Amino acid sequence: MKSKASAPGKVILFGEHFVVYGIKAILCAIDKRITVTAEKTKERKISIKSNIGKLELEKNISLSEINSPLKPFYYLANKIIKNHDIGIEIIIESEIPLGVGLGSSSACCVAGAAAISRLFADTTKEEILKLAIEAEKTIFQNTSGADCTVCTYGGIMEYDKESGFTTIESQPNFHLVIANSNIEHSTETIVAAVKEFKAKNEEEFSTLCRNESELIEDVLKELKDNNIKEIGNKVIQNQEYLEKIGISNDKLRDMVKIGKNRSFGAKITGAGGGGCIFALTDKSNLDNTIKQFKDNNYDCFSVKIDFKGLDTF
Ligand code: MEV
Repeated sequence: MKSKASAPGKVILFGEHFVVYGIKAILCAIDKRITVTAEKTKERKISIKSNIGKLELEKNISLSEINSPLKPFYYLANKIIKNHDIGIEIIIESEIPLGVGLGSSSACCVAGAAAISRLFADTTKEEILKLAIEAEKTIFQNTSGADCTVCTYGGIMEYDKESGFTTIESQPNFHLVIANSNIEHSTETIVAAVKEFKAKNEEEFSTLCRNESELIEDVLKELKDNNIKEIGNKVIQNQEYLEKIGISNDKLRDMVKIGKNRSFGAKITGAGGGGCIFALTDKSNLDNTIKQFKDNNYDCFSVKIDFKGLDTF
């Protein structure tokens, strides 16, 4: 018997990094997915295959002995099947570029938790999210949980670490153009660098948290009115805060500058240090924004909001 699940990637529109310190973030799921297939096997091993490599191990191996980006899958599989006299084979297929801030690892954890757990029981989205966050913590201990949450429920949402998420009901009519720096990053390392920045600049960091929080409240109002120009101005302002906490670099700055030329605003999305930026557009400036990136030899593609979230079949 096979079990299959897919989960969307994500874009953090506002509030990355600050969300780790209790500030609200605004995120949306995107129409690019990770699909995970899980199947029980007679051989009592955990076997994981993906386009970033393979992992085949006995059950009950200590996580500290596993040095692989596939560790969250091993954690999930072992947790779920350890008391059953079987093995498991897991296959991962991805439409999301990996390791560039578009939620590939969270979508993997969500789709993985769903596909594996549903081999044994009809798990709810809440249970799957809990498992997915546990799995993500095996590679990134300090996660705010924002990414796994949006990959589970889809749509556009406000999220805070303490009270969880609230779906934003308005359906904004924007397009996002994502440009990829093709610099892979480790979210954990960059979150640790921001922690260091905070320790050295407590006062500046708390002012930035206050400013970010006000900006998010303004955006929530603008979203209700679908005021894309004003939301674009907030994107530009948010990018300035991200520059201040040190997660940008020359290439990302150049991409943001190019992105801003024709769109309503552009900023880094996710951890930064590499990864992706997005430019906010509507139909009027979508093609010109894409052209700007292409003319400057940057990889880019446009995405829409995914409203489905986790899907099981
Ligand atoms: C990474 O996609 C988002 C961060 O805010 C970390 C987190 O929220 O866990 C940088």
